[in-house]
Amino acid sequence: MKVMRFMGFVLAGGLLFTAATAAAETGAEAANSLALRKIMKDLGSNMQTVTGAVSMEDWPLIEKTARLIADHPQPPMSEKLRIIAFLRTDMSRFKGYDGEVHKAAEAMGEAAKAKDGQAVIASFNTVQTACYGCHKDFRPQFLRHFYGTR
Ligand code: HEC
Repeated sequence: MKVMRFMGFVLAGGLLFTAATAAAETGAEAANSLALRKIMKDLGSNMQTVTGAVSMEDWPLIEKTARLIADHPQPPMSEKLRIIAFLRTDMSRFKGYDGEVHKAAEAMGEAAKAKDGQAVIASFNTVQTACYGCHKDFRPQFLRHFYGTR
């Protein structure tokens, strides 16, 4: 019985230690990540919200979420400067994709306001295409340059 209790204690201690290590690693990753990454994660979940809202024909939720996508926050100035220094002449193409997201998300919001489901879906497609365009052209080099991966 005593042995069993001891084993339980060791097991619980081991799990706690594992959990603490995992938490520390996540913290370290967050600290080194670009602010852009958090902005992107939010864009991703907002796009998922829109997908769900289309199924529910929840136009007000789409309108609200489209605004969050169109007017997403920007990284702090210091990070912007790092990105500008890295991208140099590619900066205008990078900004172009962001402009496309903005414009298409605004159109999506207007379509939701008009309860025009077909137009919401069409502009959703345009938004997603702009997201994908920027990722295809820029994400690998961001990961390499800012994180030293891939
Ligand atoms: C102007 C370029 C650009 C546009 C437009 C863009 N992204 Fe990104 N996205 C990036 C870059 C660069 C990264 C990598 C950033 C990083 O890992 O720090 C990224 C990463 C991501 C990630 C991964 C985040 C993670 O946890 O690793 C998600 C999700 C994402 N973007 C969603 C979106 C969605 C949704 C849209 C459109 C609504 C979008 N992005 C539009 C440049 C862009």
